[in-house]
Amino acid sequence: MKNQVKHKLENIVIIGNGGRENALAWAIQKNALVKNIYLIPGNGGSLGINKCQNINLDYENKSLLKEKLNNLDVDLVIIGPETPLANGLGDYLRDQNFPVFGPNQDGAKLESSKSWAKSFMQDANIPTASFWKITTVNEAEEIILKSTFPLVVKADGLASGKGVFIPETSQECLKITKEILNGKFGKSGKIVLLEEKIEGPEISVFAICDGKRYVLLPTAQDHKRIEENDKGLNTGGMGAYSPAPIISKKELEGICDTIIKPSINELLKRNIDYRGVLYFGLMITKSGPKVIEYNCRFGDPECQTIMPLMDSNFANLLYKCAVGNLIGDEKISSSSQASVCVIAASKGYPLDFETGFPISFNNINQNNQQIFHSGTSIDKNGDIVTSGGRVLSVVCQGDNFDSAFNSAYETLKKINFKGIYFRKDIGHQVRTKKSLNVES
Ligand code: AMP
Ligand code: GLY
Repeated sequence: MKNQVKHKLENIVIIGNGGRENALAWAIQKNALVKNIYLIPGNGGSLGINKCQNINLDYENKSLLKEKLNNLDVDLVIIGPETPLANGLGDYLRDQNFPVFGPNQDGAKLESSKSWAKSFMQDANIPTASFWKITTVNEAEEIILKSTFPLVVKADGLASGKGVFIPETSQECLKITKEILNGKFGKSGKIVLLEEKIEGPEISVFAICDGKRYVLLPTAQDHKRIEENDKGLNTGGMGAYSPAPIISKKELEGICDTIIKPSINELLKRNIDYRGVLYFGLMITKSGPKVIEYNCRFGDPECQTIMPLMDSNFANLLYKCAVGNLIGDEKISSSSQASVCVIAASKGYPLDFETGFPISFNNINQNNQQIFHSGTSIDKNGDIVTSGGRVLSVVCQGDNFDSAFNSAYETLKKINFKGIYFRKDIGHQVRTKKSLNVES
């Protein structure tokens, strides 16, 4: 494979346009071997990161992408979002001999088909909620009306994080199931998964894999709901913190034995050469940790939260995964600090919101702090404006969670755009009461 011998790491391409991709770029630029990072397409904040440039190219146009990557003499391609992975961009670029971090279409199925992922877990005896895979309203009625416990409804395919429903009643459960089967999410809803509703705190665990071996990143906890006290609609994530103290080192070892290693072994058994990050969304239930979902990419905003804890070797590790060359006991994080992220969103998100508002940043101190742009662009006057639902990821590190969150909320006071919204209780699980009384 290209560059396996010379191990050049000068030119790196990152596919994607979110806060996650900017955070990856920020961590990768720390490595002295890296000279240029090209984000395709990147966003309004990517240019502010050392060594970074945006390339405005449609990465779905594979031959154009290939030509560009050849011209750039690329050493490593990192694919950020799930959609190009599910559409086989990894397979295509590997066929062209580029080292790629991101699984092929077969591995990405762990995220792109929830029912496939459930059968995968069943075969490998991995703890997860009970489930029923259905394709007709009759089957749904049969299961929902007989069920003695509450059910969760999921569209099988990709739905931008909007395809999961937690109904209050069986009538509501049946109604949403019918809506999905009748096309609410197009072909992503041809199959519906009904799952036993389980309970407990959630945690995100990331394993970077080279096809055979893996290395764990620090754990994180996300906040999926839009409103404080974890109420309201589900979002892509409104904030996170890392590492997640909810599980001890010993418990994490248990998770490796019951969930992570069996997942890697099952991939091997199915001849899936998984080179990328495997994201385990776990729920810590009374009967132990269970897998809620797999994702085939870094979580957003968990990635923004974890990247500042990485040392300059991180770029190297991603390269080693891409060429199938991990040892498996690599040292991955040099920081013992706490890292936190609060998302500044557009008013109305996750439903309708307006964009195009200028963003002001007033005298922000950059120490132990990163502001990764999530949904921003540069307008015709050269000003940075809002362009998405989640606009900025304000990330801070500190010796403890209180100090890191205090810095993040102090910084948010200095940022403004029309309709700015952020949750004030991110990290309520790890902050003291005093630190939770944040003024707006
Ligand atoms: P997902 O998109 O699969 O991560 O699901 C979104 C959210 O729905 C998760 O973070 C959980 O909070 C919740 N959820 C998903 N599946 C279940 C389940 N079986 N029981 C309880 N909550 C669930
Ligand atoms: N933060 C959750 C996700 O990226 O799916």
